[in-house]
Amino acid sequence: MKKILVLAALAALAFSSCSKKEKVDEYGYTIKDNQIVYNTPARPADQQSMLQFAAEPIEHVRVGLVGLGDRGTGAVYRFPYIEDATIVALCDLMPERVERAQGILEELGAPRALYEFSGEEGYKELCQRDDIDLVYLAVPWQLHTPIAVYAMEHGKHVAIEVPAATSIKECWDLVNTSERTRKHCMMLENCCYDFFELTCLNMIQQGVFGEVVHVEGSYCHNLDPYWDQYQGDWRMTYNKDHHGDVYPTHGIGPVCQDIDIHRGDKMNVLVSMDTDAFNGQEIADKRYGKGVVEKYANGDNTMTFIRTEKGKTILVEHNVVTPRPYNRMYQVTGTKGFANKYPNEGLALGADMVKAPVAYDDLDAEEYMSDAERDALMALYEHPIAKGISEKAKEVGGHGGMDFIMDYRLIYCLHHGLPLDQDVYDAAEWSSLVELTEVSINHGSMPIVMPDFTRGEWNKLDGLHFALLEEEN
Ligand SMILES: NC(=O)c1ccc[n+]([C@@H]2O[C@H](COP(=O)([O-])OP(=O)(O)OC[C@H]3O[C@@H](n4cnc5c(N)ncnc54)[C@H](O)[C@@H]3O)[C@@H](O)[C@H]2O)c1
Repeated sequence: MKKILVLAALAALAFSSCSKKEKVDEYGYTIKDNQIVYNTPARPADQQSMLQFAAEPIEHVRVGLVGLGDRGTGAVYRFPYIEDATIVALCDLMPERVERAQGILEELGAPRALYEFSGEEGYKELCQRDDIDLVYLAVPWQLHTPIAVYAMEHGKHVAIEVPAATSIKECWDLVNTSERTRKHCMMLENCCYDFFELTCLNMIQQGVFGEVVHVEGSYCHNLDPYWDQYQGDWRMTYNKDHHGDVYPTHGIGPVCQDIDIHRGDKMNVLVSMDTDAFNGQEIADKRYGKGVVEKYANGDNTMTFIRTEKGKTILVEHNVVTPRPYNRMYQVTGTKGFANKYPNEGLALGADMVKAPVAYDDLDAEEYMSDAERDALMALYEHPIAKGISEKAKEVGGHGGMDFIMDYRLIYCLHHGLPLDQDVYDAAEWSSLVELTEVSINHGSMPIVMPDFTRGEWNKLDGLHFALLEEEN
């Protein structure tokens, strides 16, 4: 009898460790021919694709805002200027931040939020209410996916600050939950809405740059003055523990839109490489005391290269600890033109602009067009979604106006029942770099075959189109 029990216990153990292993493999990778190959799990039967998903129109969008630190407070300042939405619920770990946000609403002449929540699990009560349509999240990275999943499970659309997820497993959690619950899951990648990027996107779609063959984007921002401001030290905690591009979406988001990622092309292979943590270690030694952080993980500069199915390349960089001036790079190289955003916005249209005769060593020959020519061209190609709201966006502000355009578009699409500008696959693809870059670096910069979050549907849509009502097209 005893022997039978022991055998049964061993069998149960083997079964549980086997099902555990299967779980890991489902979202994990194997190494084949010196490449790390990520698995793309089959779509469960109770889920449907969210490509071009449109929900029922919402007459007036009731917003629950979770996370009222630096970023969430910015949203409190913007939402009162959006006609078809109201912040009805506020939630933060700290009740005093909820009260501060109520004060801002009052100051702007907007109604105080009806519901207030605080504490670590206050968001659960918020999500359980049935009179909230959209949960808007501006909490530390580590909480994005767990709260978003909980919100969708409770019937809410979600908008999540960047990056939406910190692991491949979390990326799939967002995709699976959105597909199963039929709720929107949009990452709030505001840099897609900056004026230069939007205009370039329109120019690309009108063929001004020819075929776009290479794009670059980055997040180079010296965070030295800000490290102490993140609640509970969440940001430095993440950086000191992780290699890789931990904040990739400002760089990669806008350029993926430029080359129709999962709307005709897909990212196939990624390679990442970082420097040592020269400044990172020094900053940690100063903040925590020498030797407390034995080895600061995040390299001072991280570079990532990606090749797409259609033979295009992407370069993404991350650098938050050196005095390198702020730079999101944003470069577009096409067969007929070139755009560059930092440090000066420049456009060059190749052969049309070359002065004749050109000496081989005349390096100024293929120069950028003049500022006046650039401005005239850009005015001509202003993106249709910016037309009509760009002045208001600049007045309301939020990184110069792009944050307002983002919120405005989110509410516009929900109000009219249109597909959102960024879908759950964008959120997963762009956020997936957090884990993929770390894994590549941890394997000596080994190439990674990336997962396909659309599960083979990357070629179903013909390019990126922001939804607009007929009369505004
Ligand atoms: N898109 C952008 O331009 C941009 C700019 C800054 C920050 N962000 C993103 O916004 C997010 C927040 O960043 P931040 O700078 O505001 O950080 P922060 O530390 O200032 O704010 C985070 C807030 O979340 C609250 N919080 C923590 N745990 C919570 C919980 N369980 N429930 C409710 N609230 C909780 C904290 O109390 C704090 O008020 C991050 O994801 C960050 O990457 C984006």
